[in-house]
Amino acid sequence: MSQRTLAHYLIEEQRHKGVINADLRFLIEVVSRACQAISVAIGKGGLGGALGEAGSDNVQGEAQKKLDVLSNDILLNANEWGGHLAAMASEEMDLPHTIPHRYPQGEYLLLFDPLDGSSNIDVNVSIGTIFSVLKCPDGADLSSPEAAEAAFLQAGTSQVAAGYTVYGPTTLLVLTVGDGVVSFTLDREQGGFVQTGEAMKIPADTSEFSINMANQRFWEAPMQRYVSDMQLGKDGPLGKDYNMRWVGSMVADVHRIVTRGGIFMYPMDSKMKEKGGKLRLMYEANPMAMIVEQAGGAATTGYERILEIVPGKIHQRCAVIMGSKNEVDRATAMHKV
Ligand code: AHG
Ligand code: MN
Ligand code: MN
Repeated sequence: MSQRTLAHYLIEEQRHKGVINADLRFLIEVVSRACQAISVAIGKGGLGGALGEAGSDNVQGEAQKKLDVLSNDILLNANEWGGHLAAMASEEMDLPHTIPHRYPQGEYLLLFDPLDGSSNIDVNVSIGTIFSVLKCPDGADLSSPEAAEAAFLQAGTSQVAAGYTVYGPTTLLVLTVGDGVVSFTLDREQGGFVQTGEAMKIPADTSEFSINMANQRFWEAPMQRYVSDMQLGKDGPLGKDYNMRWVGSMVADVHRIVTRGGIFMYPMDSKMKEKGGKLRLMYEANPMAMIVEQAGGAATTGYERILEIVPGKIHQRCAVIMGSKNEVDRATAMHKV
């Protein structure tokens, strides 16, 4: 494996392949530096005084952890002055953040889940950052945060880049600019991301599933059938045993699947129906779906391809089933009967 840095990879995507322009290259570098800063804050743990509750709720009514708020601020501060963005939206903010007038405005929109897996922060288990990049439509009204929301309401197929960082035993950045999936490991001594994975591919078949089984009785009938077939293992219709893994941080659970295959599900359940599901379409489902599809996998709600959902609001939620293609196809087929 060549020791290419993230900067080097991005230059090649721009210069040789013409897949990205200089602004998008800069944007991704800035996001990666913000993630590096988040990684440092997380790494300090209890020593940095960053663990615990922030004492506030976000727009979804969820209690914010100090690191949720800190990570959000790091991403906002890193990205607002560079001239590459028109606006930002975050799971942790009610409304989009427009770029202050003192800075130039760019052509991109950045969306993020600054800290994914918040319930794992205080127990020292892997967490992450997820981000998605869209182009700002020409003539979009950015005169106020309220008006700016409309610019973001694009289907996931319009994403020009998506990525996530896993803060685990190593800090890893996984990225797609629509040209396959690559990964970079944070070199803590040198300070920067070095490429450690290329052309990542999710095996089409798997015998590992990832779901919060505690919600089983709340799922819809097709999901009940799909999972119970796997639980029956060798004795059931699938004729093979399955294993189960659930970290509880979407980033970590999907990263395992991007690495070695599997199927990740946060399906619709009766507790979450009013809200539209548990996971957020624009900060979690769409960027992860783009990566999974770029790695040869599939991503659906059970009824439609996630990337084709046209959002009605930025904080919209959806059911999520993603990972190894043949498993996702089987789950989808069960929703059709
Ligand atoms: P967040 O910490 O950004 O709110 O997201 C948490 C999400 C996701 O990461 C994970 O898959 C899921 O919530 C965990 O839900 P359970 O509490 O049902 O395990
Ligand atoms: Mn999340
Ligand atoms: Mn979050």
